[in-house]
Amino acid sequence: MTATSIGQTIQRHIPLTGNIHGKSSLAYTTTRGAVKVVNAAQMSLAEAYINGLEVPDAVLRSLFATYMPVLFKHFPALLAPYEWVLTETDHVAEGSRELMKLQYDLPQGMLNRMLGDSPVIYPKYSMGLWERGAENLEQSQIQMLDDLIEKLGIEDGDRILDFGCGWGCVPNYIMSKFPNVQFTGLNLSHEQCEYIRQKMQDPESHLSSGRFTLFEGDLNEAEFAEKFDKILSVGVFCHVGNLTNAFRKLATFLKPQGKVFIHIITVRTPNNISSVYTHKYIFPHGRYWNFDAVPSCNQDLKTVQRWYLNGINYSKTFANWLKNFDDSQAEVKTLDYGMDYQKFRRIWRFYLIWLGFNFATCDGEINGNGQYLLELA
Ligand SMILES: C[S@@+](CC[C@H](N)C(=O)[O-])C[C@H]1O[C@@H](n2cnc3c(N)ncnc32)[C@H](O)[C@@H]1O
Repeated sequence: MTATSIGQTIQRHIPLTGNIHGKSSLAYTTTRGAVKVVNAAQMSLAEAYINGLEVPDAVLRSLFATYMPVLFKHFPALLAPYEWVLTETDHVAEGSRELMKLQYDLPQGMLNRMLGDSPVIYPKYSMGLWERGAENLEQSQIQMLDDLIEKLGIEDGDRILDFGCGWGCVPNYIMSKFPNVQFTGLNLSHEQCEYIRQKMQDPESHLSSGRFTLFEGDLNEAEFAEKFDKILSVGVFCHVGNLTNAFRKLATFLKPQGKVFIHIITVRTPNNISSVYTHKYIFPHGRYWNFDAVPSCNQDLKTVQRWYLNGINYSKTFANWLKNFDDSQAEVKTLDYGMDYQKFRRIWRFYLIWLGFNFATCDGEINGNGQYLLELA
């Protein structure tokens, strides 16, 4: 039996409580029944809110404070709303076009304002590092990127692939530090690629230095003519449903001594988690891999080092995004979201408050971010 299929067997039988290695199909069936109740309760609360029920933020937070720690600590199986969350899926990433429509290709005026957009830090949709004294969102993102550079061991002259490059923030920052680094970025979001294409024409941007190549396309179909010294992927693997196949693909892009750095949301629970709410309204097919999932898929790439970043860092990042979102209402309410703006606003406020809260649950020790340094197996 391979490492992956062992992982899947354990997860398929995870009981509601008790020893996860005690496999019992009755326990599993009971758990799936209980999950349906939790899903329905979660969705009723969320949909009442987004349909106009007036609930102050403080009340929402104290409600989350009452039940989320119990679920994380004692009933993590109830946080896996669908069976597919527990196992690897057929495709490397499922439903990518749907994800772009619902999330990444939303009006960029709104996303850029929420995430922050400066000459140094372009919109960056991933955790900032606050635990070293950052005083604002931009500083937290700079400190996160400096930390990444050190952990991945980037050297001047490296050829680097950014797998899911967002708005080009990570390549732009790294190229500003290393004048001979060459970057290739892959992203399926047409709107984010448009932002990058503009920067590639802007003499102030390092993306215009001739050292950056953009591929607009799906990571399911990614192919590159060259091989890379380093591959990095920040905040993307929550959209990857099959780690084994993704690593097989990345391994073919890597030079023999190359290194891969994956930064993802992760949970220190026995099973992966997700939510009915984020699946329907925010990140279709998104899942948060448990901290051991990456090292258990070591057929083509092996994990040589890993780090757990406390969720408080992400909670603070979300708090800043929520504030930016709230502060930008006057500018962004006229953009086209394909639905009534007030409803859209409530969908996003629920998401930002809820996830922001979840990362701080249990002092950030269960729901945080994971970083993995991998090399060819
Ligand atoms: C959370 S954002 C992170 C972006 C960037 N790495 C950062 O830290 O700001 C995830 C990125 O992955 C891209 N992405 C998601 N699914 C993809 C797919 N199937 N193919 C290519 N890109 C994808 C999104 O468009 C988005 O740019």
